[in-house]
Amino acid sequence: MLTIALPKGRIADETLEIFEKTFDTKFEFEDRKLILERGGFRFLLVRNQDVPTYVLNQAADIGVVGLDVLMEKEMDLMKLMDLGIGKCKVCIGMKNEDELDLNCSQITVATKMENIAKNYFASKAMAVKVIKLYGSIELAPIVGLSDAIVDIVETGDTMKQNGLKVVETIMESSAHLIANKNSFISHKEEMLTLYNKINDTIKESN
Ligand code: PRP
Repeated sequence: MLTIALPKGRIADETLEIFEKTFDTKFEFEDRKLILERGGFRFLLVRNQDVPTYVLNQAADIGVVGLDVLMEKEMDLMKLMDLGIGKCKVCIGMKNEDELDLNCSQITVATKMENIAKNYFASKAMAVKVIKLYGSIELAPIVGLSDAIVDIVETGDTMKQNGLKVVETIMESSAHLIANKNSFISHKEEMLTLYNKINDTIKESN
């Protein structure tokens, strides 16, 4: 039986919808349960950032995770397909009155996504001091904790309502189906069948 790690929240619901359409049965977690067995699959509900860890360690064979999380984790995983859900961008935000000066020698950036931030500013040959936060990133520039933030932008409302603007888009993200490399080899047929079925469902709904 293939085990599939899903990130809690909206992406889990949308992924289960894709499975419902694919297998024509209801896929729903009961109340606070974190495991669901249905249609010959076992689904796990985990935190977004933990999905790659479950898949890398083969506690799950497959996972659904945002490309942003995948880029941040830099783990050796197989990317199977873009599910086209959970679309967002990773952006640099600054106070409305500030501008990003790529010629300045040093910038302080608050973020949950340390690697993405470091890699981006390294590519611009800028020294960056990264301050790791776990949420409410938009507060940092307002209270003088940082010059800028690197964060997820979905609707843009959080930045707007806190007096910040996007000064640069680093990457576009959407949820991807990923697999453990060994699982892919040992369950190749099952994986490919699942891949083809999901691919058909996605094509039909586009
Ligand atoms: C994310 C992100 C932004 C917000 C962006 O936070 O870190 O704060 O969503 O969404 P918007 O562009 O639609 O306003 P999340 O809700 O995951 O909470 P967190 O701050 O606890 O990480």
